[in-house]
Amino acid sequence: MIILKSPKEIDRMRESCRIVTEILELLKESIKPGVTTLLLDEKAEKEALKRRAKPAFKGYSGYPFSLCCSVNEQVVHGMPGKRELLEGDIISIDFGVILGGFYGDAAITVPVGRVGKNAEDLIRVTEESLGAAVEKASAGNRLSDISHAVQSHVEKRGFSVVREFVGHGIGRSLHESPQIPNFGSPGRGVTLKPGMVLAIEPMINEKGSDVKILEDGWTAVTCDSGLSAHFEHTVAITENGPEILTKL
Ligand code: MF3
Ligand code: CO
Repeated sequence: MIILKSPKEIDRMRESCRIVTEILELLKESIKPGVTTLLLDEKAEKEALKRRAKPAFKGYSGYPFSLCCSVNEQVVHGMPGKRELLEGDIISIDFGVILGGFYGDAAITVPVGRVGKNAEDLIRVTEESLGAAVEKASAGNRLSDISHAVQSHVEKRGFSVVREFVGHGIGRSLHESPQIPNFGSPGRGVTLKPGMVLAIEPMINEKGSDVKILEDGWTAVTCDSGLSAHFEHTVAITENGPEILTKL
């Protein structure tokens, strides 16, 4: 069952989402060669608490950190640690908070210093695919129109879509119905309605789409060690079309 949110509830989600966005912006400014992913995690947690928001991921299914930091071939759910970022790396940072009973969730992929042409293209195309997906998040469209928008944008440009992870409804829970794959034919699934709030999150690989989970039980990596990028927005479907609640 998809839980619809009233305009007042969407106002509250706008607050949690604004905090997520502000913190991702701060973290983005801190991303430089030499910085550890643990420092980013500590900063994310501190800045959330300062705003009276609670990090959403810490303790979720036993995840021990506030932030997910996925570097290079890591797809999602990379765990912060003593690893120092190097010039030429790319890093996806995924962050969520809960405030006033409602969650916000977003992710960006950021180059560390100067990166290779393919890394740059992958980041750009992944962000564009999220834009294309959001445009389809309008009342009257079908759920898989979102999925198809991501897949067609990405595959036309020679990149591949991760199948194992999906976007999701969001509200009083971090993960609500529906699941939102990033691939599929258009015109399938539920009809989108005002009041639905969706976390749309394409995860896109430079080479093959296959991923595996490392021994730590969390970190997803590409099987062929190609790069991977991830962007996520929390989006409300309104009478006037999609509203990105986590707009940078
Ligand atoms: N943005 C991710 C998601 O929506 C982050 C979840 S990480 C976890 O699923 F640790 F909370 F699982
Ligand atoms: Co999410």
